[in-house]
Amino acid sequence: MEGDLQIVIKTLAGLEPVLAREVRQLGGREVKTTKRAVICEGDIGFVYKANLWLRTAIRVLVQLDRFQIRDEEHLYRKVKGIAWEDLFEVNRTIAVDATVFSDQFRNSLFIAQKTKDAIVDRFRDKTGKRPSVQLRTPDIAINVHIQQRWLTISLDASGDSLHLRKYRQAVDAAPLNEVLAAGILALSNWDPQLPLIDPMCGSGTFLLEAALRASNVPANVFRKDFAFMQWKNFDEELYQLIFDKSLEKENQSLPPLLGFDKDAKVLLKSRRNARSALMEDHIKFKPADFLNWPEELEIPPRGIIVMNPPYDIKIEADIPVLYKGIGDTLKQHFSGYTAWIFTASEEGLKNLGLKPSQKIKLKNGKLDSWLVRYDLYEGSRKKQG
Ligand SMILES: C[S@@+](CC[C@H](N)C(=O)[O-])C[C@H]1O[C@@H](n2cnc3c(N)ncnc32)[C@H](O)[C@@H]1O
Repeated sequence: MEGDLQIVIKTLAGLEPVLAREVRQLGGREVKTTKRAVICEGDIGFVYKANLWLRTAIRVLVQLDRFQIRDEEHLYRKVKGIAWEDLFEVNRTIAVDATVFSDQFRNSLFIAQKTKDAIVDRFRDKTGKRPSVQLRTPDIAINVHIQQRWLTISLDASGDSLHLRKYRQAVDAAPLNEVLAAGILALSNWDPQLPLIDPMCGSGTFLLEAALRASNVPANVFRKDFAFMQWKNFDEELYQLIFDKSLEKENQSLPPLLGFDKDAKVLLKSRRNARSALMEDHIKFKPADFLNWPEELEIPPRGIIVMNPPYDIKIEADIPVLYKGIGDTLKQHFSGYTAWIFTASEEGLKNLGLKPSQKIKLKNGKLDSWLVRYDLYEGSRKKQG
């Protein structure tokens, strides 16, 4: 695994262009987008950096080989031909994940099984011992992708999904995935020098991701473990150098980052999360009901609002009333701001009473969702109310 590596970086639906931009900025080469992923080239140092820095990546895969297969026995022989003993020690636990898009090969479980057998048998032949399988939290995760007869086999460099930033101490009922929150901030083109308000902040995901980005701190600065640390070629010195260098870039002067929620209890959790991300001095949380916005609250004259209001009947009984109230407060108190609302409720959006200037389709887990932009011009109350 030396020199130029073929790298596949997975993301969430709709975030591909944002991730591609991040990958280019980080020094990835030959960058291309595909469905829920970005493909690029880079060296092993880039793989370390990608895991540490990328805000919209879910996982980083490094390609080991790519070949055509005739049948399952052929697959077994080809996989057994890879020098697995050079990649990791036999005492590491392994798991194989297979995705198959093929008329000939249909059973992904069988493909995963055959691949695992080939790896285990190779170790047994070479070392007399065999690695054990650990499906849920393996040290080494191997990824097989079959497209018709073409098989690509990769090592997962990340381990746990990269959205697990490890700053979250406490969660509320419906926290956003951190990768999705970072992606929404990027799609909003938020300039990290501008004030940012989340008036329904829940556990504070938007604000925490915004604070990390405005500080120019790597997204995964708090993660201690990445799967590449289990590889035989892990260059600890290089990783430490990359880590130390990335901290030199920290910016201490952040714009106002303000979080509000009507539920004071949830704000205890967001404060705890901010403390654990070392961002408690940069984010201010206060209880406030957005539908009865307190006049006396001091907010910057300009900025952006990013919010993810309740969207589900189970959480909030009266969606039309809630969204109409949100629209009214935006018009009355936030002229001069740009507001981005992320929701799965089309009915809610219809009741805002504001004219959208951009609508981006995304997913929140399995739910179809929209990120919608509203420009709240001075006097928009008169024009749009
Ligand atoms: C879907 S959650 C937001 C989750 C958040 N983005 C996160 O990552 O944790 C919606 C939040 O809106 C808050 N909320 C509902 N009605 C509100 C209102 N009228 N004023 C302020 N907050 C409200 C709820 O307490 C809840 O925390």
